[in-house]
Amino acid sequence: MKILVVYDSMYGNTEKIAKAIAGGLSGEVITKKAVEATAADLPRGGLLVIGSPIQAGHPLKTTQSLLDSIYEADVKGLKVAAFDTRVTGGFAKLFGWAAKRIADNLKKKGAELIVEPEGFFVKGKEGPLLEGELERAASWGKIVLAAAQSKEAVTSSR
Ligand SMILES: Cc1cc2nc3c(=O)[nH]c(=O)nc-3n(C[C@H](O)[C@H](O)[C@H](O)COP(=O)(O)O)c2cc1C
Repeated sequence: MKILVVYDSMYGNTEKIAKAIAGGLSGEVITKKAVEATAADLPRGGLLVIGSPIQAGHPLKTTQSLLDSIYEADVKGLKVAAFDTRVTGGFAKLFGWAAKRIADNLKKKGAELIVEPEGFFVKGKEGPLLEGELERAASWGKIVLAAAQSKEAVTSSR
C-alpha cells in the first residue's frame, strides 16, 4: 500500500513523532514536511497519515494551507489517519485538538477516516516529548496500518 506521512513541526517534537509513526508502518512509505507536500503527492487508493503541533487549538498554517489546497477529487478512495502533539493539562482542552480539525476537514471532502484522531504529549511548548511517546507513536503506526489493511480487504472483497 502506498503511504504518505505528512507532518508539521515548529520545535521538532512532531517531526520525531511522525518519524516514529512511519517506523511502525510498512509498505511504500514516504515522509514529507507539510510545506513540501502538495495535493498531487496524495497516494491514490492509499493511506495518508497527517499531523501537526496544536497552536491555539489549530494545526500550523502550513498544514492548514495544504488542507485548503486539497479538494474532493484528491481524496477519493483515500484512507486517512490524523495526529497532533499537545501539552498536558486542562487549558489545552479549551482550544480543542488539531488532529480532530485535520480529520474533520478531510472527512468532509470524502476521505475515509480509519482510526480516531490521536494526540501525543510534550512537557512544554518546546518539548521534550513525554517519556514513552515515541514508542506509543510506533505502536499507533502499526494500529493505523492494520486498520488500513482491513479496510482494503473489505473494499476488494466487495
Ligand atoms: C503559540 C502556541 C500555541 C499553542 N497552543 C496550544 C494549544 O492550544 N493546545 C496544546 O495542547 N498545546 C499548545 N501549544 C503547545 C504545542 O502543542 C507544542 O509547542 C507542540 O506540541 C510542540 O511540537 P513541535 O516541537 O513539533 O513544534 C502551543 C504552542 C505554541 C508555541
